[in-house]
Amino acid sequence: MTESKEKLYKAVEHHCEGDSTGHDWWHIYRVVKLALRIGEQENVNIELVEIAALMHDLDDWKLSSDSENYPNARKLLKENNFDQSTIDRVIEIVEQVSFKGAGVDTTPRSIEAMVVQDADRLDAIGAIGVARAFAFGGSKGRPLYAPEVEPQMHQSFEEYKQSKGHTINHFYEKLLLLKDRLNTNTAKEIATERHKFMQLFLDQFYKEWNI
Ligand code: ADP
Ligand code: NI
Repeated sequence: MTESKEKLYKAVEHHCEGDSTGHDWWHIYRVVKLALRIGEQENVNIELVEIAALMHDLDDWKLSSDSENYPNARKLLKENNFDQSTIDRVIEIVEQVSFKGAGVDTTPRSIEAMVVQDADRLDAIGAIGVARAFAFGGSKGRPLYAPEVEPQMHQSFEEYKQSKGHTINHFYEKLLLLKDRLNTNTAKEIATERHKFMQLFLDQFYKEWNI
């Protein structure tokens, strides 16, 4: 690993310290690993995929009030001597990663962005996805479940951003939709088992709830 990349890893790890919303360093680490694995099977610039996966949540709208200009990602890349053209290409990928609501098209434009988006989405489903959803909900003061509140298929990013529903609804509003919104075959294969596990989790949850 080059020295500046190694420093960048450390800087991102440091930046994520103390996160309890499911966007901690280990989420970033898993997304980088998944992105490299998926990227191996595709014709991508793997270096850009790696750096974009590493930077993808530093300015996430859920965590940061000034997410539009990607100040944290830009700052860390600059401080670690990445040139302006690399910075711009990384930001262009990062911009395309996030889910924006059930009714909002977020199909990426480049294969690099497709790979990073798939990696991020895989870490939102399966057992880890379940754990992250409740960690996020807890960090925002949301209830686990409220049977009277129905899921909403958000038709705009604005609507999705405003939503404050309970965490079980998040499965219907996002997590269960992800397996059909993946870009690469590698990710689709990995998703099958993870998706089944979430369904099993929900079945058991309702069984216990309705005893
Ligand atoms: P994205 O950028 O696609 O949202 P992230 O890496 O930022 O992906 O992580 C999204 C994760 O945050 C979700 O998988 C989920 O665990 C959590 N999350 C986001 N919104 C909610 C919500 N309303 N309720 C529960 N969890 C949520
Ligand atoms: Ni993420």
